[in-house]
Amino acid sequence: MSNKIKRSPLFYVGDKYKLMKQLENLFPKEINNFYEPFVGGGTVFLNIKAKKYFINDIDKHLINIQKLLIASSKNPKKFFKDAEKIIHKYKLSHSYKKDIVPNALKKEFKKTYYARFNKVGYDKLRMCVNNFQKNDPLILYILLIYGFNRMLRFNGGGKFNLPVGNVDFNKNVVNALNGYFDFVHDKKIYITSKDFKKFFSDKKYFKNDFVYLDPPYLISASEYNKLWSKKSESDLLKMIDDLNKKGVKFALSNVTHYNGSKNDLLLAWMKKYKVHEIESNYINYHNNGKKIIKEVLITNY
Ligand SMILES: C[S@@+](CC[C@H](N)C(=O)[O-])C[C@H]1O[C@@H](n2cnc3c(N)ncnc32)[C@H](O)[C@@H]1O
Repeated sequence: MSNKIKRSPLFYVGDKYKLMKQLENLFPKEINNFYEPFVGGGTVFLNIKAKKYFINDIDKHLINIQKLLIASSKNPKKFFKDAEKIIHKYKLSHSYKKDIVPNALKKEFKKTYYARFNKVGYDKLRMCVNNFQKNDPLILYILLIYGFNRMLRFNGGGKFNLPVGNVDFNKNVVNALNGYFDFVHDKKIYITSKDFKKFFSDKKYFKNDFVYLDPPYLISASEYNKLWSKKSESDLLKMIDDLNKKGVKFALSNVTHYNGSKNDLLLAWMKKYKVHEIESNYINYHNNGKKIIKEVLITNY
């Protein structure tokens, strides 16, 4: 496994970047096919050595961006050139190359000058996405990079509705993109956008195959948890039992306790398997002497 942990250039909320070292140590040492039905930004698969990768997420926009990045890994120069065209057209700051934010603005808005500087261009780009180019993954990626919390979010009418963030296309973004391109360019990656039940329905497993699952957490608050229900949770746990019966190795990330709630379904289910405590990167540990979040990795090996 790799020594240096790669972070996905999607900077996904709740990604496993900070936990990857702990997870890596608990993953099987040899992996044939790697399956990740809830891939999110992709930080986990980027740090896995396997023969083939089957990655999936229900979020089509997210998957379209990853498809673009995978295709661009054959020609990163073109990707950066295309991105720059948009950045220049919308007059967005691009500190990875040049600092174009005026000093006066930096002085006046010490902590928010990127948001102040980029707001006009960002709003125009967002309008362009909402009116004509909704499915252009490069434009969506640029909105994500300059947007609030580096997220993708659409309202009920299907309009991208995040405001500008106090962020910029900086060196970290370029490094993460290059790390992604470098990793994926010679790998066999099969990427889909399905509900997890459909993802599992057509798979055949072989020796040393490994399934890593990081679904929405039933008891924590997150944008992508909105569509996750008790029914989704129990369907998932049943599917994992099926994998176990077939002799497939799995690891499931989850939280059992969160701010006073606990996931009883999961607590009862996990007794059959091995449970590893994970030191979580949520603001955690002690709150008036009470541990407010407990993150686990559940495995069958
Ligand atoms: C906790 S996040 C995964 C984060 C990921 N481990 C990372 O490092 O970026 C959970 C993901 O599950 C996806 N998801 C939610 N419901 C799903 C479903 N029914 N089938 C497949 N994916 C789903 C969400 O879109 C979200 O990206």
